[in-house]
Amino acid sequence: MRTCAREERIKASTTCKFQTMARLFHTVLLAALIGAAAAEAGQKLVLTNDDGWAAAFVRAHESALNAAGYDVVLSCPAVDKSGTGSSTATPTVLTNPCEFNTCPVGSPPEGFNASNPRQNYVNAFPVDSARFGIQTLAPKFFNGSAPDLVVAGPNVGSNAGSTVLISGTVGAATEAVLEGFPAIAFSGGSGSQVSYTTLESDPTSTTSRAALLYADLSIPLVNQLLSTPKPFLPGGILLNVNFPSLTSNCTAASAFKYVLARINPASSGTPPDVSTCGTTRLPTENSIISRSTECLVSVSVMQASNKGDATAGNQTFVLEKLSPILSCSS
Ligand SMILES: *[C@@H]1O[C@H](CO)[C@@H](O)[C@H](O)[C@H]1NC(C)=O
Ligand SMILES: *[C@@H]1O[C@H](CO)[C@@H](O)[C@H](O)[C@H]1NC(C)=O
Ligand SMILES: *[C@@H]1O[C@H](CO)[C@@H](O)[C@H](O)[C@H]1NC(C)=O
Repeated sequence: MRTCAREERIKASTTCKFQTMARLFHTVLLAALIGAAAAEAGQKLVLTNDDGWAAAFVRAHESALNAAGYDVVLSCPAVDKSGTGSSTATPTVLTNPCEFNTCPVGSPPEGFNASNPRQNYVNAFPVDSARFGIQTLAPKFFNGSAPDLVVAGPNVGSNAGSTVLISGTVGAATEAVLEGFPAIAFSGGSGSQVSYTTLESDPTSTTSRAALLYADLSIPLVNQLLSTPKPFLPGGILLNVNFPSLTSNCTAASAFKYVLARINPASSGTPPDVSTCGTTRLPTENSIISRSTECLVSVSVMQASNKGDATAGNQTFVLEKLSPILSCSS
């Protein structure tokens, strides 16, 4: 392919500009085709959250999932929508900027990063961003196919026990399950609501370190689940995963164990849980993540219909899927 000579540029700059653009278009098209071929091999994930599309946690998670070979589309609220559970609304034009000034007032109800169209915001609730990711973005970016899995978070702050009922992160994952897709809600005890730019500008901050650790801890779990035959989860079921607060004992992902847990404390009338680790009563997720120096991640099996604990039958399904990476807590 010929390039525009210097005199040509001077004589006929318009034509030459056009040729340059045509070449650029060709290069971009070629890159897109190569990208599409590579993406065929990678399983398709919609990534959402409630802290907003520019939060450090979700962007570190996006990078880790991409690095692990997944085909990822991010669809998150335009601003922080923590604590909004399963609220839903029609997305509206921005009357305030997106969080951390990542889009101006007057931006459309749904928008994307012009340099990376896989990063999308939705100016409504977490449920609406999950829905937009599944119904609109997935068909567009995944060549008409549905996501293999919807992942939410990690949320800034634990979502363990009754907190799951108000969590927007859990709300978004629950929406995916109600639409027929397997989903995992992730949350972490350390870190704060800061921009993804902090990951580069202040890599040793607590949030940056937590964001990277939690992102690393998500991968073995996602890998294990997606390496099993479909269905990845029973219908109506999601996973609720909590990472503990950062401690000096547990800095590398390799130091952690994943423990099957239950969301709510059992009472005398609660039916038995799956039989594992020598008992038919799972530890609560709060009891697991509070043992923060022992480097334990809680993995609970949640029923989307009421955000409560799943039946022993559904816990068994998950135990069998995840057994290669699960450990007993002591
Ligand atoms: C958009 O993507 C570019 C390229 O990856 C990145 O440098 C920029 O920070 C992103 N902006 C937002 C708002 O995500
Ligand atoms: C955590 O770290 C402290 C200080 O390094 C050490 O004394 C303690 O034994 C560790 N705890 C566990 C459970 O490993
Ligand atoms: C699994 O959970 C679903 C949804 O809550 C329920 O309908 C089904 O009966 C459960 N299956 C088993 C084997 O317990």
